[in-house]
Amino acid sequence: MKLVKFQNEKEAGAYLGQMIIDIVKANPKAVLGLATGSTPIPAYQYIAEHKGDVSFKDVVTFNLDEYLDCSIQEQTYRQFMHDNLFSKIDIDEKNTHFPDRKELDAYDELIDRAGGIDIQVLGIGNNGHIGFNEPGTEADAKTHVVELTESTIQANKRFFNDDVSLVPTHAVTMGLGTIRKAKKIVLMATTKSKHDAIVKTLGGSFDKSCPASVLFDHQDTDIVVTNEVID
Ligand code: PGA
Repeated sequence: MKLVKFQNEKEAGAYLGQMIIDIVKANPKAVLGLATGSTPIPAYQYIAEHKGDVSFKDVVTFNLDEYLDCSIQEQTYRQFMHDNLFSKIDIDEKNTHFPDRKELDAYDELIDRAGGIDIQVLGIGNNGHIGFNEPGTEADAKTHVVELTESTIQANKRFFNDDVSLVPTHAVTMGLGTIRKAKKIVLMATTKSKHDAIVKTLGGSFDKSCPASVLFDHQDTDIVVTNEVID
């Protein structure tokens, strides 16, 4: 695990965005593991602005998670990815995948058949969750259905007119075991509220109360933070 620090989220986003551009430049059929949330947005903006003539038409993507029975279509993670990245590059959206309750084991198998994920982008929750793997998740979990915790529902209600009753109660997420199979992982944290979760993640062993700490022995993980998160 390597800690990489930046002054602000724009610089952190440029680091990750350029890394993704370079991976696709070297391998036009690269397999990307993508994340939603506020944290990766600067990286996606960077890609849109700096992709030059790099083509994403043969790139394959697997998103970390997706809501089940989302009441507001605009809030699905597929729509988020379309708005923030896919519509700004020449990717073929047929090559973009999101987990679904109908294909849980099949999602892991599809990733394996695609050759495995070359780079997995991750945010982190204030409670250390990655994807929707909440505290208590097993280290070897595969793609599975989760019931969202109260803290996650509260954190997400801002996207649902601040109405808790509109926030989906379940989601499908890659498991910690699925995530750990990625060849390279970049976990980003750019706000102060992530401080405790990042300290636990860097703790040097798997602590079930902080799912991201499962990455402690991964062969190639960058933990990208701003000064706001860790001085
Ligand atoms: P955020 O979410 O990027 O919107 O802070 C991260 C997460 O909860 O995984």
